[in-house]
Amino acid sequence: MSIQKRAKYGAEAFDGLRGSLPQPFPRTMGPNCQTYLQEVVTSGLQCDMVRRFEAAFESEMGIKHCIGTPGCTAALNILAAALSLEPGDEIIVSPITDYGTVMGLLKENYIPVFPDTELGTPLISTQTIAPCITNRTRAILAVHITGLICDMDPIYALAKKYGLTVIEDVCQAVFGTYKGRLAGTLGDVAAFSFDSEKTLGSDVGGCVIADDDELAEQIRFVGQSRGGQMVEGLGRVHAVNGYALRMTQSTAAITLAQLEIIRPAVAHIDRMIRLITDKLAEIPGILPLSIPDYMETYSCWMAGFSIDPNAFTCDAESFAQQVADAGLTGAGLGKYYLMPAALPFLTDKAEKHLFPFSKPPASHTYKYNANTCPNARDFLDNFIRWTTFCEKYQPEHCDLVAQIVATVADQNRV
Ligand SMILES: Cc1ncc(COP(=O)(O)O)c(C=O)c1O
Repeated sequence: MSIQKRAKYGAEAFDGLRGSLPQPFPRTMGPNCQTYLQEVVTSGLQCDMVRRFEAAFESEMGIKHCIGTPGCTAALNILAAALSLEPGDEIIVSPITDYGTVMGLLKENYIPVFPDTELGTPLISTQTIAPCITNRTRAILAVHITGLICDMDPIYALAKKYGLTVIEDVCQAVFGTYKGRLAGTLGDVAAFSFDSEKTLGSDVGGCVIADDDELAEQIRFVGQSRGGQMVEGLGRVHAVNGYALRMTQSTAAITLAQLEIIRPAVAHIDRMIRLITDKLAEIPGILPLSIPDYMETYSCWMAGFSIDPNAFTCDAESFAQQVADAGLTGAGLGKYYLMPAALPFLTDKAEKHLFPFSKPPASHTYKYNANTCPNARDFLDNFIRWTTFCEKYQPEHCDLVAQIVATVADQNRV
């Protein structure tokens, strides 16, 4: 039997990482975590902890509906199912993201269309989205990757001109703000991850939030009640081929407790990441991520910087290895985030015109490879990230990050 080299998640993925900087695990747990978990047990699973968490999140976000799920992949999966679009309909999706952003779209046989990113950034914009809009486009899924929030007001305006739904993937920008509003409230519907390593680290958790009553009801019906309807004299029938992707009571207990400590944690993250950004900007050849003026709170889960390839004798991969060896825990490239290149099964289907690419009237021939989004590809070729960034950083750790990067930079200058 051949054993795959399987991807690891959560604490297991961080096991064995070494370095001089804080690690996210063990996570800082909210003081009420034990109490809420105990309530779940003491009630004999009767207390509705999931609804309690959902109501608390609705109130924090100022939104009507929160639907708890086992992760963001699941959240976007049930959202995709609830949208009830046709196979072959196109969704415009940020090209730099995690597989969890697109999995649900693919399961519903929607076609992802990846616009390029703005030059030198990991974000999509109206300029890069507009040429991708066709008569098959139904939605735009904008990912606030690395905590940088896409410029959502113009994206929303463009989407509404064409009657498109606007979806936000907020996994990496939890409680980040844009022009005074929270990420996740800037479109029609949004999805979050509360995965154990994420900013609001709970367990394998996530949610969808929306203001639209009908959409929220459809998400619960299709995504959580398996499309099951009660029919008198018969029992349950399944009106649609639905899912049972519900958040568990124990995850809700942890997530509720983590929600109670998230605001100060995010405020601290914002201060630390801005400090690191300023310090990195002083190192010749190092390009920190540029923080748009419209963002007041920079809630970053993954920190990173780019190198100017002309400034150094080594490539980004070697640079990343050197900073990791020097103590920047978990530093490495994020090339796997380039979705058009990371989904070989999709490339294959598109090339062979297999379903859903066989669906008429397909608006054009679809191609998925690294070269279809050259800005995104070039960005990731020179971007070094470390996902161990967390609320435990103190100013001395920011100094140490800058010191490590400056030393490696000096050792490799042309
Ligand atoms: C941008 C983005 N979207 C989606 C996901 C998937 O989230 P989850 O692990 O909760 O399914 C992740 C996880 O890393 C992510 O970073």
